[in-house]
Amino acid sequence: MTKKVGLIGYGGIARDAVEALQKSAANIQLVGALCEPGRTADARAALPGIKIVESLSDLLALGPEVVAEVASQSALALFGPDILTRGTDLLVISIGALAEPKLLASLKAAGHRGKSRILLPAGAIGGVDAIAAMRLGGLHAVRYRSRKPPAAWRGTPAEKVADLDKLTSPTVLYRGTAGEAALLYPQNANVAATLGLAGLGLDATQVELVADPQAPGNVHEIEVEGSAGRFAIQLQGKPSRTNPKTSALAALSVARALINLESAIVI
Ligand SMILES: NC(=O)c1ccc[n+]([C@@H]2O[C@H](COP(=O)([O-])OP(=O)(O)OC[C@H]3O[C@@H](n4cnc5c(N)ncnc54)[C@H](O)[C@@H]3O)[C@@H](O)[C@H]2O)c1
Repeated sequence: MTKKVGLIGYGGIARDAVEALQKSAANIQLVGALCEPGRTADARAALPGIKIVESLSDLLALGPEVVAEVASQSALALFGPDILTRGTDLLVISIGALAEPKLLASLKAAGHRGKSRILLPAGAIGGVDAIAAMRLGGLHAVRYRSRKPPAAWRGTPAEKVADLDKLTSPTVLYRGTAGEAALLYPQNANVAATLGLAGLGLDATQVELVADPQAPGNVHEIEVEGSAGRFAIQLQGKPSRTNPKTSALAALSVARALINLESAIVI
């Protein structure tokens, strides 16, 4: 059965996810994409063949069964509650925004009112399925380490902690909770918030941010211990070709989550 999907945003993740959906055999009908007022021409160029609208009411008038937010934390805050209240499911990729307890509570309340659901794909990382399953049997620890080359930490509070130009060995920039890390380092907020929400919560998930001159790129290391077992993964994400600042895997995880909504086998 065809699933009707609306998008918010037309940047790197939107374009890569649309490309992956179009290459797949999935029965997904992209009914339209919402851009900021006055940006229709840019959005049309980025997402050829997809109807572009400039208001949420115009997007919802196209009848999406699910809206995928692939835009920004502010777009999620602006449109998320209305989408859910009106009974439309909402897939969220700007998961870092959910580290803000007020926004999380308002989205949950809106979903309750509208009998709609908030869908969170794994984004740039893996192992989220095992963490969420292990939680049901007793989860003891979730540790996340983000290792990136020093230059990747420019423009963050890391600049006050270390002289990024002079580092010769791995240096811990931050050690603390996922909740605090997400607010201090918005670049790492999505992964920290995803792990927190899947497992022990944002305050009990441990986060370490490391500048490593030898890091081959953006490396995610996740260690998990629970009653059902333990695991550790290391995932080296490649940047998206569309937007080098974003993760190629995150867009694919959006496409996968949407395909699972219409597929006979959900995996
Ligand atoms: N969950 C994860 O693991 C993960 C990984 C990478 C990126 N992200 C998040 O995904 C989001 C999108 O990333 P991207 O790389 O595609 O960014 P991008 O900058 O390439 O594109 C964002 C797009 O959203 C549009 N947009 C922003 N605010 C809008 C609004 N209010 N209304 C309509 N459109 C709006 C912009 O114009 C742009 O087209 C970001 O919030 C990013 O943090 C999440």
